[in-house]
Amino acid sequence: MSHLTVIPGGGSRRPARAGAATSVRVEAPGKVNLFLSAGAPGADGYHPLTTVFQAVRLIETVTARRQSYAAAGTITLSLEESHGLAGTPGTSPAGPLPTDSRNLAVRAAQLLAERTGIDDGVDLLLRKRVPVAGGMAGGSADAAATLVACNQLWGTGLSLGELMALASELGADCAFPLLGATAVGYGRGDELSPLMTRGTYHWVMALAREGLSTPEVFTHLDQMRSDSEPGEPSDPGEPAPVPAGLGAALRAGDAAALAACLRNDLQAAAVDLRPELGQVIGVAEQAGALRAIVSGSGPTVAALVPDATSGVRVARALEASGLVAGTVRCDAPVAGARVVG
Ligand code: C5P
Repeated sequence: MSHLTVIPGGGSRRPARAGAATSVRVEAPGKVNLFLSAGAPGADGYHPLTTVFQAVRLIETVTARRQSYAAAGTITLSLEESHGLAGTPGTSPAGPLPTDSRNLAVRAAQLLAERTGIDDGVDLLLRKRVPVAGGMAGGSADAAATLVACNQLWGTGLSLGELMALASELGADCAFPLLGATAVGYGRGDELSPLMTRGTYHWVMALAREGLSTPEVFTHLDQMRSDSEPGEPSDPGEPAPVPAGLGAALRAGDAAALAACLRNDLQAAAVDLRPELGQVIGVAEQAGALRAIVSGSGPTVAALVPDATSGVRVARALEASGLVAGTVRCDAPVAGARVVG
């Protein structure tokens, strides 16, 4: 993916400040990977992917507020609320979410400011609904929402394509929440192409007590593959293409057919690192899920259910199992990052 160094005309696109909004609120969705095939890592350490993202109705909200002139020039972040459990909104496996430049939302605002020559600063307020370090791209959704919010607040006027290029610099999963709905991702997963789908899909997300690190899961996958004999099907150089059946199931709105096509190459590595995830998958499928898979690099397990009612049953069974920190039910697909206030 090409990286922008300068946004042409960025600095000159700012409107007069008189009458400009003092705050902009943006929502952006989390995601589940319906399909993820990973090839062997390249020289940059990244794995070439073929993946299908679906945006789910677990929504991150970023409010960007203009600063007083006295404070101008700083980028601050506060979290709207924080629960005590890792794997649930507000905390990471390493403790409370950082609010400095380790946070993708802050990095997104910094990157946009740098590339457009803006030094106004901004106060960001983040409300999290996507599990932290859960394999559902919550941090990426925060970055996407921040880019859209600051682009509007600062009047920088970048196009969706320009914002997506910036998002890709922040992380492989950061561009998708700008697009939302359902899309295939190639390359690092950031070269996106929308997919046509019909209908609504119902998911139950089983949250883990502790997050998993994405690089650790990818590295473990490489380790498992190198431990197997070269040439075995588990040792691919190139990622597999999206099966025709998956596209057909999505176009037909057929959840059962989609279930049969779900695939995640990272699942074996995540389950090997965290064996109880295998049990979580079993509980969900026994309770009526069409199929349950690890979401992205995990440890969230995403159970595709036939309808909202069976979702309640599956969620109850998961909670009764004692294996999960909690469950959230959501439908999909939903739109990408958008201004709501
Ligand atoms: O791009 P992002 O920072 O989200 O990726 C986190 C890590 O996940 C990378 O540093 C890399 O170790 C791993 N990764 C990968 N191949 C991808 C995407 C991510 O190996 N396509």
